[in-house]
Amino acid sequence: MSETKVTAVDQTFPVKKTTASRLQSVNFSDLRFGDVFSDHMFELIYENNSWQKGKIIPYGPVNIMPSANILHYGQGAFEGMKAFTMENGEINVFRIHDHYNRFNDSCKRLNIPSIPEETFTQAILQLVDLDREWVPSDKYKSLYLRPFVFATEEFLGLKTSTTYRFYIITGPVGNYYREGINPVKLTTMPDYVRAVKGGVGNAKVPGNYAASLYPAHVAMQQGYSQVLWLDAIERKYVEEVGAMNIFFVIDGKVSTSPLTGTILPGVTRRSVLELCKLWGLPAEERMISIDELFAAYREGRLTEAFGSGTAAVISPVGVIHHKGEVITLDTEKMGPVAERLYATITGIHHGTEEDPAGWCNII
Ligand SMILES: Cc1ncc(COP(=O)(O)O)c(C=O)c1O
Repeated sequence: MSETKVTAVDQTFPVKKTTASRLQSVNFSDLRFGDVFSDHMFELIYENNSWQKGKIIPYGPVNIMPSANILHYGQGAFEGMKAFTMENGEINVFRIHDHYNRFNDSCKRLNIPSIPEETFTQAILQLVDLDREWVPSDKYKSLYLRPFVFATEEFLGLKTSTTYRFYIITGPVGNYYREGINPVKLTTMPDYVRAVKGGVGNAKVPGNYAASLYPAHVAMQQGYSQVLWLDAIERKYVEEVGAMNIFFVIDGKVSTSPLTGTILPGVTRRSVLELCKLWGLPAEERMISIDELFAAYREGRLTEAFGSGTAAVISPVGVIHHKGEVITLDTEKMGPVAERLYATITGIHHGTEEDPAGWCNII
């Protein structure tokens, strides 16, 4: 078991503080997701073939030209991670190293110059430390962190940009889904696909999300909160949900789709698999067909379904619809495996459960 270290935050980057903090205007007892932003942001510019010196500045508009690459060709990538107030008042930024690795992989896939891990990590720690009063103290709330990079070169024509901007913005958040931690309803959308092998399904890039909006809109009109994506070739194997990886408990075994290049390698997915291993709970990464799922349900062998993601942590699935057939699991509450994972992961976030493997970065 590796030990969690408390880091004294270096003041590496120059800071221009806001003169008009918005902190007092925030109602921390009524937080939704993604509509409140903290006082400061980190900015790093790429020009003359290198990343320049970063700085922390007040949160505010970003000035780019209408011809900037990102607005037309979408050369950009992002991350989604969280910081929590621990029981002892310290702040825990969760699994920075894993988020960095995925961000770096996304950048590589979009031909964006790599940002050094030390810069990424230090920027997050210094920014969160500066705005630490923005980290909610409530157990089910957190500070969401959004690092993102985009191409800024003024040029119309398809080519790799020579200039970029990297930012980190943060904001206090409550529950991701309107349902809170109550079970969500999913539907497959066999007429649409999210990703193909060799594409960008395993990178966290804007186009993946833009392309999912219309099918998600149709699903919502039909009364479902998210799309359960099937593979693009056979439209048969379960892949993932809009912003979550998907898990099933079949015959007492925890199963999730393998990382074959079409799904996002979720950091929470990794935490779930690592915890199952630690607990000696059978867990496997394998192709799961939608027909197998319905057969297991009919035979009483499918006992739970849940999603995993930074935003929702663990989100129970109550209903799965596919071509007129419906799986109805517990529509009121989480099943025992989801419940145990949710309690443990949120406990690790807030320091009431032991950090199993150096996941926590404490400041
Ligand atoms: C498409 C998709 N799948 C899965 C996830 C879950 O990933 P993580 O657990 O790293 O948040 C996310 C969220 O980032 C996502 O957008």
